[in-house]
Amino acid sequence: MQEIKFYSGENLPLELHKVRIVQKLHLVPIERRLEALYEGGFNTFRLSTKDVFLDMLTDSGTNAMSDNQLAAMMQADDAYAGSQSFVKLEKAVNDVLGKKFLLPVHQGRAAENIISLAYVRKGSLVPMNYHFTTAMAHITDKGGQIAELLYPEAYVVNSAHPFKGNMNIEKLEDVIVHHGPKNIPFIRMEASTNLIGGQPFSVQNMRDVRALADKYGIRVVLDCSLLGENAYLVLQREDEFKNSDMKTVMHAFTALADLCYFSARKISSSRGGGMCTDNPEIIKELEALVPLYEGFTTYGGISVREIESMAVGLYETLDETMICQSPSYIKYLVGELDKKGIPVIKPAGVLGVHVDAMQVCAHIPQTEYPAGALAAALFLISGIRGMERGSISNQRDEYGNETYADMELLRLAVPRRVFTLSQIKFVEDRLTWLYDNRELIGGLKFVYEPPVLRFFMGGLEPTTDWPQKLMAKFKEDFGDSL
Ligand code: F0G
Repeated sequence: MQEIKFYSGENLPLELHKVRIVQKLHLVPIERRLEALYEGGFNTFRLSTKDVFLDMLTDSGTNAMSDNQLAAMMQADDAYAGSQSFVKLEKAVNDVLGKKFLLPVHQGRAAENIISLAYVRKGSLVPMNYHFTTAMAHITDKGGQIAELLYPEAYVVNSAHPFKGNMNIEKLEDVIVHHGPKNIPFIRMEASTNLIGGQPFSVQNMRDVRALADKYGIRVVLDCSLLGENAYLVLQREDEFKNSDMKTVMHAFTALADLCYFSARKISSSRGGGMCTDNPEIIKELEALVPLYEGFTTYGGISVREIESMAVGLYETLDETMICQSPSYIKYLVGELDKKGIPVIKPAGVLGVHVDAMQVCAHIPQTEYPAGALAAALFLISGIRGMERGSISNQRDEYGNETYADMELLRLAVPRRVFTLSQIKFVEDRLTWLYDNRELIGGLKFVYEPPVLRFFMGGLEPTTDWPQKLMAKFKEDFGDSL
C-alpha cells in the first residue's frame, strides 16, 4: 500500500473509510465509574457498556462491519442443510484461505474444542509459539499439556525484533525428540501471539516449522484468527514479501498448515468461526463432531445471516485499506506513549496497545495482579475499558497453584475501523496522567474465583482504599471534567 504523506511532515494514520452508521457513547462521572467497578468485582469483563466510554476490551465481535457485509445479511438462504449461504462461505474460504473443505463452528473456541476432542489424549503435548486462553483450556480439559516455545526476544518489552511471535525451531525439535512424535498430536501456530502483545511470526518461520513437522510426521494447525493482521505486518517487515500482496502472504501461511481454524469474530469482522483443510482424512475426523456440538455441517451453530457477512468479511480482509487502520493507530499510540517513557510492548503489534504493568505498577507484587489493577485504575479515571492479560488470565496448575504470567499486560484493543484519532489521543492523555500518578494504584485480591477461565467472571476487590485516593487525585487535577 502506498504511503500517504502530510505536507506538515506529521506522521498521522489517515482513515481510508468514511463513517456512515454511528453509535452514541456515554462518558459517565468518575463517582459512577467507581460504583461500577465495585459492582463488577474490579473485573473489566463484568462492566456494563452503559458505564464504558471507549470499549477497548477486545476486537472480538466489535470490529466495524462494512456496508457490503450488512447488505449481504439480507440475502441469506435460511435452510437447515445445504444452504447457498454456506456455498458462498466455502468459496470465500477457498479464495481467501486457500483451503478446499470447510466446517463452520459457532466461534473460534468451538474449533479448539473439536480439534482437541479429535486429537488430544492424556499424555499428549501440544507445542505452540504461545498459548491462547481458550486453546489451552480445551487442550488441558482433554488431558493434554502445552509447551510454549518462543525465542527469548519475545519476552523483551522494549524490542525492535520484527517477528517476536516466531516459534523457537531448535527448542521445537528438542521437545519433539524428547516427548516422542507419537505423543504430539499437532503443532499449533498462533498468528500474532495474542497474549504477549499481538506479535507476528514470519512466513520463513512457518516454513521451518513445516519442515520439522514433515521430518517427524506431525500435523500443523494454524490459528488464523488474526492472520490478516499478521500478513499485513509480513508485507511491511519480511523482505521477501515487500512487493507482495495480502492474498499471496495469507496463502503462503495457510498452505503450510494441515488444518486452519479461525474466530470469524476477528478475521472477518462478523461472528462465528470455522475449520478448513485440504485433507479429506482430517475432515472426516472432525466432521463427525460438528453436528454433536455445533449444528449441522452447513451452519455450525452460526446464523445464516452471519455466514453471509463472514463470506464478505473474509474477502475484505484481503484489502489493505480495510486492515490497516487498526495497526496504524496502534503504531501511532505506541509511538506517542513511548516518547513519554510509558512502557509499552514494542515493536507495535496488532490487536491493541499493550502496556507493561510489571513496570508501570512495579510497586504491586504479581500476587496482587498488577495488570488487573492497572485495567481497573484506567477505567476509573477515564471510562476506557481494557483487558487484563497477565496472571489473572492464567489458569492454576493441576495442583491448584497459581501460575504467574510471563508478562503482566494491560491490553487496549483497537478494533478495526471503530475509533477516531481524537479518541486515541484521549487514551494517550489519560494514560499519561495515570502513569504520572501510578504510585496511587494498589493491588487486587480474588473474592470469587471460578475454576476454569477465571478471568471472565472472577470477582476481585482492592487490597486497600487506593481507588478512592486515585479518584480524589483525579478530581483535584481535573475539577468538573468527566
Ligand atoms: N484464537 C485467538 C488467537 C484468539 O484471539 C481468540 C479470541 C480465539 C482463538 C478464540 O476465538 O473468541 O471466537 O472463541 N480472542 C478474543 C480476544 C476473545 O479478546 O482476544 P473466539
